Amino acid sequence: MSVSGTRLVIIGGTSGIGLATARAAQDAGARPVIVGRSAAGLRSALDRLGPEASGEALDAADRPALDGFFARIGSFEHLVVAASGGAGAGPFRGLARADLQAGLDAKFWVQWHCAQAALPHLARTGSITLVTAASARVGNPGTSGLAAINGALAAMVLPLAHELGPVRVNAVSPGVIDTPWWDRQPAEMKARFFEGVARTVPTRRVGRPEDVADAILFLAGNGYVTGVILDVDGGLRGASPG
Ligand SMILES: NC(=O)c1ccc[n+]([C@@H]2O[C@H](COP(=O)([O-])OP(=O)(O)OC[C@H]3O[C@@H](n4cnc5c(N)ncnc54)[C@H](OP(=O)(O)O)[C@@H]3O)[C@@H](O)[C@H]2O)c1
Repeated sequence: MSVSGTRLVIIGGTSGIGLATARAAQDAGARPVIVGRSAAGLRSALDRLGPEASGEALDAADRPALDGFFARIGSFEHLVVAASGGAGAGPFRGLARADLQAGLDAKFWVQWHCAQAALPHLARTGSITLVTAASARVGNPGTSGLAAINGALAAMVLPLAHELGPVRVNAVSPGVIDTPWWDRQPAEMKARFFEGVARTVPTRRVGRPEDVADAILFLAGNGYVTGVILDVDGGLRGASPG
């Protein structure tokens, strides 16, 4: 099976993993519908995609806006939620509750609302793919907050697959992927971190957005895979620090 001929909605589809997924979906014959908050970001992403792509600028944390969006676009086959957060990282002793709350709001609650708001419009044979993170599956110091956010999402995947079937529910769990998400760090720090990761993981490089997009399209397109969290982390889970 494949996503060819389907409509695939990607929340967080204007950058990084989401944009790579839109590109791959389009190449596979699907019609991507992308969403991001920034109107300029949306325009620039649509310029890079083909005429089959469309999209809207909205904040997926705003449930009425999300409900309006899904009502406007009507029925579709596949939902991918790749919206990012960022808050909630740092050593546990100094982690403020407000920071963790901001991280939960930006990622856990956004993905939760997207999945719930999409349901009335999702085809019976369709799918939901969430994007969690390797932080929920590794033991890195300073990532307990991110582990909590992504772990909460990961924990929902299997029960949702059983509750919502025949709609399939899966997630990808990316490791370190070179996307604009990392541009919030100074360039030198980012380069050092990426070099360290490349030394550490068995695949000897950081991930590309296309690596994750490929896994997302597999999960969306395969009609017999549900309740799965697919690690796309270059082997980060078992790696020892370089
Ligand atoms: N990059 C990595 O190493 C990595 C590792 C593990 C997990 N992940 C996860 O992968 C997902 C994608 O990350 P990425 O690296 O591709 O990040 P990215 O390049 O920063 O892209 C994030 C996308 O989400 C959109 N977005 C964020 N908040 C939104 C909101 N409230 N409503 C609508 N759109 C929103 C952004 O557009 P606007 O800013 O215009 O809204 C953008 O299109 C995230 O869930 C991230 O946690 C990434």
